[in-house]
Amino acid sequence: MTENTSTSMISLRGVNKHFGDYHALRNINLEIPSRQVVVLLGPSGSGKSTLCRTINRLETIDEGEIRINGELLPEEGKDLAKLRAEVGMVFQQFNLFSHMTILDNVTLAPIKVRGKSKEAARKRAMELLERVGIAQQAEKYPAQLSGGQQQRVAIARALAMDPKVMLFDEPTSALDPEMINEVLEVMDDLAREGMTMVCVTHEMGFARKAADRILFMADGEIVEDRSPEDFFNNPESDRAKDFLGKILGH
Ligand SMILES: Nc1ncnc2c1ncn2[C@@H]1O[C@H](COP(=O)(O)OP(=O)(O)OP(=O)(O)O)[C@@H](O)[C@H]1O
Ligand SMILES: [Mg+2]
Repeated sequence: MTENTSTSMISLRGVNKHFGDYHALRNINLEIPSRQVVVLLGPSGSGKSTLCRTINRLETIDEGEIRINGELLPEEGKDLAKLRAEVGMVFQQFNLFSHMTILDNVTLAPIKVRGKSKEAARKRAMELLERVGIAQQAEKYPAQLSGGQQQRVAIARALAMDPKVMLFDEPTSALDPEMINEVLEVMDDLAREGMTMVCVTHEMGFARKAADRILFMADGEIVEDRSPEDFFNNPESDRAKDFLGKILGH
């Protein structure tokens, strides 16, 4: 398929998803251009994680289509592994392999999935660890690092696959407060460098500063789709007003 510049980096059309009887994603239509930073907000259970997980096919959908850079998400097999490589994801839990060094955590997928040589993978991993400020710890094991450091390793690990898109699902929620900023700074740098990003976060400072666009979800629907300034100053829906009242009110 030919790619053209007007193709969205992430495109969801008519996406519906159920868990049994529960309608978790309701007719989601969403076009995210390359280099855009989207922050996804909404109350607990509104479908933020589910939406992220459908974008890298950790969840199947019942209806609709999802494309990354113009290409339909593959159903399974080799193409799915390729897609997962192109869509990096960072979760609340860092999910590092505890029996492997930091460096090996970062080089594993590039070697196994991308077929990179060990030398090339190590060189790139060290560059990325440098970038997230962990190069000194490359030979340590995850348990020897703080939570903030582990999360920065998880980001480096995702970046080692040269993803086209990065998804973050509450990457700082499991961290002690003093470690939150070091992770947000890495995300902010990535955003400035032009990475296409979808971030679920409760960090409103980050949302205001780094987002190009706020999506507010409620009950599986995108209820508002606005600039951060608009959203925070003039939320339209009662759901968004209520949400902001709770989150900014203390
Ligand atoms: N695997 C699953 N099986 C059944 N129901 C699920 C499953 N995953 C999510 N759900 C339901 O789908 C809805 C959306 O869940 P989701 O995790 O996407 O919400 P969320 O917006 O990320 O919430 P939170 O802010 O608490 O992380 C919830 O009602 C949840 O209980
Ligand atoms: Mg969630």
